[in-house]
Amino acid sequence: MRVLVTGGAGFIGSHYVRQAVSGAYPSLADAEIVVLDKLTYAGNRANLAPVEADPRFRFVPGDICDGVVVSEVMAGVDLVVHFAAESHVDRSILGSADFVLTNVLGTQTLLQAALNAGVGKFVHVSTDEVYGSIAEGSWREDHVLEPNSPYSASKASSDLFARAFHRTHGLPVCVTRCSNNYGPYQFPEKVIPLFVTNLLDGAKVPLYGDGLNVRDWLHVDDHCRGIQLVADGGRAGEIYNIGGGTELPNRELTERLLAAVGAGWDMVEQVPDRLGHDRRYSVDITKISSELGYRAEVPFDAGLADTVRWYREHRSWWEPLKKRAALAGK
Ligand SMILES: NC(=O)c1ccc[n+]([C@@H]2O[C@H](COP(=O)([O-])OP(=O)(O)OC[C@H]3O[C@@H](n4cnc5c(N)ncnc54)[C@H](O)[C@@H]3O)[C@@H](O)[C@H]2O)c1
Repeated sequence: MRVLVTGGAGFIGSHYVRQAVSGAYPSLADAEIVVLDKLTYAGNRANLAPVEADPRFRFVPGDICDGVVVSEVMAGVDLVVHFAAESHVDRSILGSADFVLTNVLGTQTLLQAALNAGVGKFVHVSTDEVYGSIAEGSWREDHVLEPNSPYSASKASSDLFARAFHRTHGLPVCVTRCSNNYGPYQFPEKVIPLFVTNLLDGAKVPLYGDGLNVRDWLHVDDHCRGIQLVADGGRAGEIYNIGGGTELPNRELTERLLAAVGAGWDMVEQVPDRLGHDRRYSVDITKISSELGYRAEVPFDAGLADTVRWYREHRSWWEPLKKRAALAGK
């Protein structure tokens, strides 16, 4: 069996690959894992260091928008797990062309190549942000799509291409929509690693607006297990939400991070709100739970404590990334 993992050098994709190669997913025990990744600012070969020497692992540098590279790498593939994306909302507000290219054109290029190659299953990794913002209750998978940021608009477009390739061509595609991930190896522009690494450096943390925006937190290990359940048993053409079950206003998340590093509220700088900032995300995970037996297993307190410890112990991983980002003006 051969698995193509796009974006496997990023945060979530690399976790999936490390788990797959280490034998965490029984159905992939003997699988060859091929990573296709362009190594943008968010991609990092160091994330794959634990598996580089494994004979079942192969890295292919390349762009998912490049039809030639994609069709070459797709030959003989049984399962595609598609993580590659421009993933940061704030960057999409500054400029969204790369989001359209990678998230929409890149996904369409992969879907077409998978169809041509007769791939057995294609898991398209998406986000709950495609649903927009919800004041009360939780979204089921059939909720209307109301994306509010250029990032989520590009992801919603890619979800619709995935659907269309199933409806039109019968490609066995599943779409997953998860909530906010956290864990080790997350690029230090996202809120948890940004706040933790700032605080470890004695710098303040920028809290958007009134800090009352609510997010559901999902440990990356639970997310990747959910993806594998969908890869193994998800019905073709279906969408599956994946959530963590811990909803927190950003203010409360900030308080927990301050406590974890022994800092006080004086280290918080309240900054003007993000443009178009969604107020609350909340996914209903009844479908993946009842059909595939998914449940989040990492308790948030323990997962957050482990994550903070990981950043404390891995300065050599994040310091160069923050320096490079600062030099690039981001
Ligand atoms: N991080 C989250 O909380 C979250 C939440 C919901 C959904 N998602 C989705 O999960 C997926 C993975 O997210 P992540 O946080 O790991 O992202 P990330 O930004 O950490 O990694 C993205 C990876 O994709 C690669 N990439 C980007 N453009 C590419 C291109 N054109 N060709 C080939 N490779 C390319 C990058 O080099 C990088 O390795 C994305 O599709 C994202 O939309 C993430």
